[in-house]
Amino acid sequence: MSRVTHPPPIAARLQLFAGASAAISETFRISPMPAFYLPDHAATERVGAALASTLGGGMLVTLRGELAAGKTTLVRGMLRALGWIGSVKSPTYTLVEHYFISRLYFYHFDFYRFADSEEWETAGFADYFRDDAVCLVEWPEHVSSLLPEADVELVLAHRASHAGRDLSIHPATPAGERCRSAIAAVLET
Ligand SMILES: Nc1ncnc2c1ncn2[C@@H]1O[C@H](COP(=O)(O)OP(=O)(O)O)[C@@H](O)[C@H]1O
Ligand SMILES: [Mg+2]
Repeated sequence: MSRVTHPPPIAARLQLFAGASAAISETFRISPMPAFYLPDHAATERVGAALASTLGGGMLVTLRGELAAGKTTLVRGMLRALGWIGSVKSPTYTLVEHYFISRLYFYHFDFYRFADSEEWETAGFADYFRDDAVCLVEWPEHVSSLLPEADVELVLAHRASHAGRDLSIHPATPAGERCRSAIAAVLET
């Protein structure tokens, strides 16, 4: 007679899974990173507006997420909140768009098409990261060895199960932590 091993019932399997993930979190001391849900593009723009209130010279904000995740929308919301009334174009082809608002330069990069690290030198991109400039960088993973450390990284994700976006916020400096608090404050109210 052959022995048939039945899988444990669903509740027991869920318990096993919960136990295993708790053990993994404990081992690696991972604190779960809360994601905020942004139901529509206006919510993404509101995040940009909240971010605007905390930006200062010398800061670097990176924006990660697949194509159409909402990165440029967030930057547009930020620039509009700062009073920019001109167009805010995606820098997909130009690599960088420049803005000058209230005596501060804003450089919005999109490194999606960046392929040649020599171009970093020839374009003089290192000179954009200055104390009188705020840099906002889409596709930072394409230039990760060239970029200074970001104050905060914003990650936007699109799930098939809903129309909106998930946002997670990863601060790395006190200035980045202030960005996280300002964004959380508008999203949690
Ligand atoms: N939270 C959201 N929910 C639904 N659509 C959104 C949201 N945020 C942005 N969008 C829409 O996603 C599309 C792509 O946005 P975009 O900012 O150009 O993406 P990316 O710069 O990441 O490629 C736009 O049509 C924008 O209106
Ligand atoms: Mg974009």
